[in-house]
Amino acid sequence: MRNDSKMYQDLDRILVTREEIARKVQELGEKITRDYEGRSPVLICILKGACVFFTDLVRAIDLPLTMDFMAISSYGSATKTTGVVRVLKDLDQPILGQDVIVVEDIVDTGVTLNYLRQILIQRGASSLKIAALLDKPARRKIKDLKVDYVCFDIPDAFVVGYGLDYDQRYRNLPDIGVLSPAIYEKP
Ligand code: IMP
Ligand code: MG
Repeated sequence: MRNDSKMYQDLDRILVTREEIARKVQELGEKITRDYEGRSPVLICILKGACVFFTDLVRAIDLPLTMDFMAISSYGSATKTTGVVRVLKDLDQPILGQDVIVVEDIVDTGVTLNYLRQILIQRGASSLKIAALLDKPARRKIKDLKVDYVCFDIPDAFVVGYGLDYDQRYRNLPDIGVLSPAIYEKP
């Protein structure tokens, strides 16, 4: 998609370009390949936000990995977290004794990942790491949440694109941009 498409008019600015994303995702894939040498981790995609990042990341990892998918909800359609996390779709396979890498779009307050980490550890994962495309450290509520791999630290702004949505839209933008507040402040 060209970045003069109509959807881009709803952005204040582009924060991370598709080229910057591609480079970082490739680097992260290579790092995970080195860190997990000789192992076959299961990568868990947190739907829907992480789906675009996930499909690029797994193709940058040269390991006999497996994939699973989980859908959780913490946001509704607002731009502020509710702190309530629900599992909408659970994993297909048990993770007992497995090396798990949770792949998430963005760590904001950390409430979602903290909850997920607890339930996945209870299920007996032998190791668990978190890979996030974006991190908004300024808004963290769960101070001791360890995010093992992050592609980009970003400022406290509401962003969309490359999987991230506002009210289920903009996920298909190839770049990541700051959504104009006018879009969500409409009456
Ligand atoms: P947390 O529980 O506050 O860390 O929120 C994590 C979830 O909130 C992410 O998986 C996103 O779905 C959503 N989220 C947080 N910030 C943004 C944003 O800037 N744009 C789109 N979604 C966001
Ligand atoms: Mg999400």
